Amino acid sequence: MPRPDEILYPRRPERTADRRKESMQGKLLDEFFDHPTLLAVSRLISHGYFESIDHPISTGKEGGVFRATKGEGFVAVKVYRIGNATFRRFPPHALEELRREVSIRNLRTLIPAWTRREHTILARLREAGVRVPAPLGYSRNVLVMEYIGDPGGAAPRLKDAVVDDLDALYEDLVAEIRRMWEPGGLVHGDLSPYNILHWGGRIVTIDVAQAVSREHPQARELLRRDVGHLAEFLTRRGRKVKAEEFFARVAPPSAEA
Ligand SMILES: Nc1ncnc2c1ncn2[C@@H]1O[C@H](COP(=O)(O)OP(=O)(O)O)[C@@H](O)[C@H]1O
Ligand SMILES: [Mg+2]
Repeated sequence: MPRPDEILYPRRPERTADRRKESMQGKLLDEFFDHPTLLAVSRLISHGYFESIDHPISTGKEGGVFRATKGEGFVAVKVYRIGNATFRRFPPHALEELRREVSIRNLRTLIPAWTRREHTILARLREAGVRVPAPLGYSRNVLVMEYIGDPGGAAPRLKDAVVDDLDALYEDLVAEIRRMWEPGGLVHGDLSPYNILHWGGRIVTIDVAQAVSREHPQARELLRRDVGHLAEFLTRRGRKVKAEEFFARVAPPSAEA
């Protein structure tokens, strides 16, 4: 098994020049890659999911997403930190569903279950034809998925993306959210310009672990909120969209209405 410091951020000539980055990475190494997480990473490496972790794409209190090298290409590796900050982010409606599988009080079982859930939901959305990163595998609190971007960098979040055609963006959002609902049978539940990437003129939805079934009593309410965030975003960018109109286009009227 490779040593941890060989797995993470292998030294490359261009890196040694950048001391500041090095020390930041040392700090990240301590914060994200505790021993059990390093073991999970090693397991994924020995099963051929990737060869090494290159650098962080995004980091936060609850975890980080890293670019990793696999052969000639890349994969994205999402690490959930085993900690209370991560737990606090999980919405109650999604925790309820996990309660059947694991003890949700125990972070050591909950967070791996959450990681697995993200993998399962990505697979389900992909099957429904929704553009999400392909799920490639997981171990404990580490998820491997398709990398969205190119060697020059990861795809920008919609929030940071330059979008020329806002009408086309609106149509794309409607089509994707609609597909999540039917045939996907899911509501994302945390949709915003932060959890959507923009790549090749199209959107790619990410961060799906909290998605709930269309049958959930709160599903419509969550969908309304998701759509509201995006209507606000479009309007701010100059494409006026009413949340009601957006909502009506993604969800058919409910049976009781
Ligand atoms: N598959 C991916 N390819 C490229 N970048 C990604 C990918 N998944 C996530 N990212 C980047 O990492 C950030 C955080 O990912 P996300 O899944 O939203 O995790 P969280 O919000 O829990 O930190 C995203 O905003 C995006 O910039
Ligand atoms: Mg996110």
